[in-house]
Amino acid sequence: MQIKGELAIVTGASSGIGLTVSRDLAAGGARVAMIARNPKKLAEARAGFGALAKRCSVHSCDVGSWRAVQAAFKKISAAHGRPAILVNNAGISAVTPFAQMAPAEMERMVRTNVTGLLFCTRAALVPMRAARRGVIVNVGSIAGLFAIPLMSAYSATKWAVTGLSESLNAELSGEGIHVGVVCPAIVETPLVKREEERTGLSIPHLMTLKPETVSKAVLEVIRKERDIVVVPRALGAVAALRPTLGPLVRWAARESTTLLKSRLRPPAPRAKKGKKG
Ligand SMILES: NC(=O)c1ccc[n+]([C@@H]2O[C@H](COP(=O)([O-])OP(=O)(O)OC[C@H]3O[C@@H](n4cnc5c(N)ncnc54)[C@H](OP(=O)(O)O)[C@@H]3O)[C@@H](O)[C@H]2O)c1
Repeated sequence: MQIKGELAIVTGASSGIGLTVSRDLAAGGARVAMIARNPKKLAEARAGFGALAKRCSVHSCDVGSWRAVQAAFKKISAAHGRPAILVNNAGISAVTPFAQMAPAEMERMVRTNVTGLLFCTRAALVPMRAARRGVIVNVGSIAGLFAIPLMSAYSATKWAVTGLSESLNAELSGEGIHVGVVCPAIVETPLVKREEERTGLSIPHLMTLKPETVSKAVLEVIRKERDIVVVPRALGAVAALRPTLGPLVRWAARESTTLLKSRLRPPAPRAKKGKKG
């Protein structure tokens, strides 16, 4: 699908990958409805686009709330018309040993990374099905193709994203709607910086991607209607060989888990209930 002149909705648009995708879509001639929760961060992101800001609107919405998603999509359609592009990018992550992850945090992660994506897709499909055209790009992760050490809950959400993308791709292709998924490795964004600070782990910068590289892949899925793009591309070939390389991949995951655990900062002690001052 061509980007020029289309209305695109981007979730998680105030930071990192979503911010870069929003700017690149606007530069490509799209009108962009940018979604995230914090309105101040959204307004600052839009203001940073300079002349492109006039092509963008901002909408505060928690993607994990069906009521909020419905209201935001309704408002966007009323003000800007029918969206032809949806980029489901909002997401959170955590590097944590599974047994130390609080159940509330697990719930929040599933609600943002999976339920949020389901809700936004469901809302976008109303106008897309009526027009019999549209492209939905889901931002997954290599954690949705491989087992990543100390990210089991995050991996569960991202495998869900890969599975949903492939299933919907098959379901909607006959209706003129394309669904693709981009699976990036580690990307230099505020999300990664926060995790580095929290865990005490540092990621060698040689191993990280720029948000611009991921944005390029997202725009490629839209323009060329690709099914899946893994960045860096070489990892795509490894993912394709996964069934054959399974034992080797699992060995590497076990070895790196042991190494990471030894470097992890111990969790901060929890405050005792009922104790004051
Ligand atoms: N960075 C990486 O290494 C990496 C690698 C692979 C995949 N990814 C995926 O790429 C996506 C973007 O990550 P990023 O690194 O760019 O993260 P980021 O810089 O932390 O940005 C996350 C964005 O999502 C928004 N968001 C979070 N929860 C939300 C909610 N419930 N409703 C609406 N918006 C919400 C945030 O704004 P508010 O907090 O204001 O809502 C922010 O705009 C995620 O899906 C992530 O899993 C990242």
